[in-house]
Amino acid sequence: MLEHEVKIPAMPETGYQIRIGADILGSLWPEIESSFGKLNKFIVTDENLVSAGHLEKLTGQRNIPTYVIKPAGETSKHINTVISIIEAMEKVKLGRDTLILALGGGTVGDIAGFAAAIFKRGVPVIQIPTTTVSQADSAVGGKTGVDSSISKNAFGAFWHPAAVYIDVATLVTLDERQFRAGLVESVKHAIIADARYFDFLETNLDSILQRKTDVLETIAYKNCRIKGEVVEVDPLEKNQRRMLNYGHTIGHAVEAASGFELLHGEAVAIGIIAAGMIEIEMGLSQPQRLERIRRILEKLEVPVKLPGNLAENQLIEIIKHDKKAVDKWPRFVLVSDIGRVYSQNGQFAVEVSRELVEKILKQL
Ligand code: GLY
Repeated sequence: MLEHEVKIPAMPETGYQIRIGADILGSLWPEIESSFGKLNKFIVTDENLVSAGHLEKLTGQRNIPTYVIKPAGETSKHINTVISIIEAMEKVKLGRDTLILALGGGTVGDIAGFAAAIFKRGVPVIQIPTTTVSQADSAVGGKTGVDSSISKNAFGAFWHPAAVYIDVATLVTLDERQFRAGLVESVKHAIIADARYFDFLETNLDSILQRKTDVLETIAYKNCRIKGEVVEVDPLEKNQRRMLNYGHTIGHAVEAASGFELLHGEAVAIGIIAAGMIEIEMGLSQPQRLERIRRILEKLEVPVKLPGNLAENQLIEIIKHDKKAVDKWPRFVLVSDIGRVYSQNGQFAVEVSRELVEKILKQL
């Protein structure tokens, strides 16, 4: 089993262990009891995890109160689901001495984490992510929330987990498209923070796509280490944490403009290519670097071009309303090399003109 510890200096009580292994779900309960034995347990999961047998694997014969999110996926990421979870907890008379276990992908983690943040003014949550995107990204770092009818994550809180348990064997049965799209967050981590990790991904891509659990454990560990280190320095996303948004400003716009037909990782892949094109235009990169990145994304079979039905002016409108925009135009994260984020005056999100973004979108 691999381990990494995340320490959040701004919130010392929230340091937490991340444990990574293959096929550990069935043996987690005694470990959870030994660390959190005094707390009552409540599980939040979704119908996919139940049908895949993962819930049963986690609980064994134990009778643990559980809320199963139906339908699985983004449409349930709504405040009403949080209300239903909290009322289900009240019905079984749970109080502040409760530990919520979030078993599932990013949506389950976000909903359960937010319910934990607000139930009786806050109870601890353990994240047990089961998808490539949640194991690489959303389970670590404490971002929780649900969507409004107008925007994503309109309700939310930073609520760091009490522990994270990653069982890479849960990836073995994950839908192929979801599996590949989630790996884009691993490519992103390598681009922003670790050139050797990028080499590792290039060299081991076949084994990753064959879902060999030893290599999946290694990438889970590297992702958690990179993300954990960024979050430790800047838990509330004042500056450094913005680097995790590499490829996301244009990526989020593409995802929204596609009506969420594109998966998050697929849209971010297009955003990463756009960032690479901006870097070339700004003299931060040579075409060879972008080609290397494009090759790895093509091998993941995620899109590297804008779908023909998305208009640039529609994307520009969405980018203007990015939640991180100041004066109706966001800053962008760029790299000066693989493994090195470009900064201006110590800022990790930098100015890129609207004209240049429009030009890149036309070429994309
Ligand atoms: N997913 C980016 C972050 O957690 O900051």
